[in-house]
Parts: sequence; C-alpha cells; structure tokens
Amino acid sequence: MSSSPIPEAREVKPTEEGMEALRMDEERGDDDKVTPWSVSAGSATGVDYDKLIAKFGCRKMTQELIDRIVKMTGKPAHPMLRRGMIFAHRDIEVMLKRKEEGKPFFLYTGRGASSGSLHLGHLVPFILTKYLQDAFDVPLIIQMTDDEKYLWKDLKVDETKKMTKENIKDIISVGFDPKKTFIFTNFDYMCPPFYENVVKVWKCVTTNQSRAIFGFTNEDSMGKAAFPAIESAPCFSSSFPHIFGKRVDIPCLVPCAIDQDPYFRMTRDVAPRLKYPKPSLIFSTFLPALQGAQTKMNASEPLSCIFINDTPKQIKNKINREAFSGGQPTVEEHRQKGGNCDVDISFQFLKFFLDDDDQLEQIQQDYTSGKMLTGELKQLAIAEVQRVIGEIAERRKQVTDATVEEFTKIRPLAYKY
Ligand code: TYM
Ligand code: TRP
Repeated sequence: MSSSPIPEAREVKPTEEGMEALRMDEERGDDDKVTPWSVSAGSATGVDYDKLIAKFGCRKMTQELIDRIVKMTGKPAHPMLRRGMIFAHRDIEVMLKRKEEGKPFFLYTGRGASSGSLHLGHLVPFILTKYLQDAFDVPLIIQMTDDEKYLWKDLKVDETKKMTKENIKDIISVGFDPKKTFIFTNFDYMCPPFYENVVKVWKCVTTNQSRAIFGFTNEDSMGKAAFPAIESAPCFSSSFPHIFGKRVDIPCLVPCAIDQDPYFRMTRDVAPRLKYPKPSLIFSTFLPALQGAQTKMNASEPLSCIFINDTPKQIKNKINREAFSGGQPTVEEHRQKGGNCDVDISFQFLKFFLDDDDQLEQIQQDYTSGKMLTGELKQLAIAEVQRVIGEIAERRKQVTDATVEEFTKIRPLAYKY
C-alpha cells in the first residue's frame, strides 16, 4: 500500500501547455520557483500565476464561481476576490454544493510563527478567511505550527512558543469570532484523535514521496520529512471531537497562499485511502516584497516586510524608502511616458487593500498616463496600509492572555453536529 503512486502528485505533473511554458522559461532562464519555503519569480511583474495553475494542476477562480458565491452568501465579493488576487482553487464547488444542500463544512488555515509579528502578506489569507467565515458562517480552525518552526529555524522550543503566542494575538486581531473559531498550537494540542490522524497519514506516504513532493534531501532531519502529516491531519474532522463529535465525514476548505499547496496535494491523495473526504482549497497570490514582485514579502527577510506592529511612521518610511517604484527617473520623463503599475509595489499594495474599485481604476489610469507622480502614489499606499494596520493595532490592544485562552480552550463551537 505504502508504495502506491500518488495520483494527486501525478495529476499535478504539468499539462502539455504547462510543459511548453516551462521549456520556454528554461530557454529564457526565467523560471518561477514556488515552494513552502521560498518564492522567486523570473520577471519584475512577479510570479506568472496562470503558468503556476498549469504547473500545479489547480484550477482558475472564474467569474462564474465568484457570482455563485455572491448569490448564495448574499455578501458582496471581497475586493481580493474581485481583482484576481484570490486566483485559484481545488474543488471549491464541492463546498458550495454542500452549503446549498445545508450540509456542513469547516474552514482550516494556519501559521508558522517565524517572526514576533505577522507581516502584511500573512494578513492576506487571514483576511480572506475572515471574509469566508462571515459569508458562509462555518467553524474555523487555525493551526499554529510552533513545532515546524522549531524544526526549520535556529530557535529554542520556548522561543517558538513565545512567538506563537504573539502571533495568535495578531491573528485574533483580524477580527475572528471566538464562538466560531478554534486556534491551537501543535505542541499543546497533540492529543490522541489528532495524533492518530497524523500516524495514519505517515503510513500512507513513503519517504520517497515526501522527498519528491517537498524536495527534502538525505541531510534534512527526519522531523522535517515527517512534518507534512501534521499540517495534513487538521483537514480531517475526526481530529477535533470537541467540535465535530463523532463526525469523521465533514470536509474542510483551506484558504492559503499557493505556496502551501504541496501539503494539500499530499492530503488530497491520502484522504480517500483513509476513507476521509478530500479538503478543498482556495488560493491567494503573494503580497510582494517591498523591493519588488520577484519575491514575496517574507518574514525571514525583515527588510522586505511591513510588520503589523510597525508604527505609522515606520510604515511611511518603509514605503517611501524601500517600495519599488514603476515610475520614471525624472518628473519630465514620468509626465511623458507614465508609470508601470504592474511592477510598482505601492500600486500592488493598493490593489490588495483599497476597497473602492473606481478609485483604484482612477489611480491606475493617472499613474499610467503620467498624471500622477510616484510620490503621490506612495502617499496613497502609505495611507491605505496605515489604515489596514491601524485597525488591527486598535483591536490588538484589547487582546490579552485571557483572550488567547478563550480561543485556544478545548471546547465546542457554536455549531451542533
Ligand atoms: P506561514 O506562517 O509561512 O504563512 C501563513 C500564511 O500566509 C501565507 N503567506 C502569504 N500570503 C500572501 N503573501 C505573502 N507574502 C505571504 N507569505 C505567507 C501562507 O501561504 C500561509 O497561508 N506551514 C504553514 C502553517 C500552516 C498552514 C496550515 C497554512 C499550518 N497549517 C494550513 C495554511 C493552511 C506556514 O508556515 O505558513
Ligand atoms: N519563514 C517563511 C515565511 O514565514 C517561509 C518558511 C520557512 C516556511 N519555513 C517554512 C513556510 C515552512 C512554510 C513552511 O514566510
């Protein structure tokens, strides 16, 4: 059994179209690399997400699906969904159909605390998750992988635990409802039902497969090669009897950025063998690094990040000094040729966070035509990022150790099964 091939992994072999794109990339030497540990793009406009869909074998988020979500939830589509930042999925229709039929599902996402504070990029999947929780009114489970960061980073157990607690406070500040949200840390929650699922996943996946999916080598610790099962197991409702009782058949929808896909490709392959439903996924693109869209904002590169505990002044200085500009070198040239929104990081931030579609469109026109200068665009981005982070910082002030306890306590949520 354990040596059977992984169909999902086979499924994600590039399509003909993907292969062709890969060959062309290789010739030009500008391949995009996207793994759970690093993201780099060959082009200044960032990762080519259409190519990634072909390479990974997931599916594009269509207007038809967005319309269906709006219709069934009665909530307007989130701006990130409208603008293509939530760009792909796996089997999201399965969850939409369940909702229409009144059958339950839950949301599952996570965070591995590798910095004392979340950065703006981490907010993207959590903002998406909050929108989905409000729109679909379903339980939400958030895994904090303190064990993962202990294995990967040069950190002591106590240090990972401390950062994890601070990160939990950041996540709560996104606005989740404690009656509908369970947050757990792996070190604390490794209880029998969860551990059983971890072991079941271990039994289904060979070391070879783990290496093929995640790129581990002989030199990696055995902990690293074993970890993916721990990110996989929360996809199964039987890992949480305090929430789902005896139900082992409730599937989940996982919102995350596309770098996490390998974990869930593996999970979708093993699920039927364990007689569990497969998880569905909804993927965001990456919020780019301040220095440009060739890499994602990454906590391991603090200079690339705006952290959610940055002060308004720090936000202003970082965007003014660091944010890569698509503008021209001189004002005259800029007025004449205009700026390039596709590579401009201030514009990209606005695209993620500015609510008003008409205003965004106007900014794009004005910057592209040269009517708006880089300094003015940066002012708008600064104001918008200060607003987003300011709202979270305001809520963060109310979050105490007791609030963390409320979210992490083993308890039923506001749903009956
Ligand atoms: P971590 O902590 O690296 O990232 C947390 C979430 O943020 C996403 N992300 C980004 N999204 C947009 N722009 C960026 N620049 C950016 N950087 C990171 C990640 O894709 C992720 O969704 N192993 C995981 C923790 C985890 C998890 C999960 C994530 C456990 N279970 C289930 C998603 C779903 C990790 O270390 O994520
Ligand atoms: N630390 C990076 C981040 O937070 C990326 C990273 C390192 C990572 N190790 C990981 C992501 C393991 C997922 C899994 O973005």
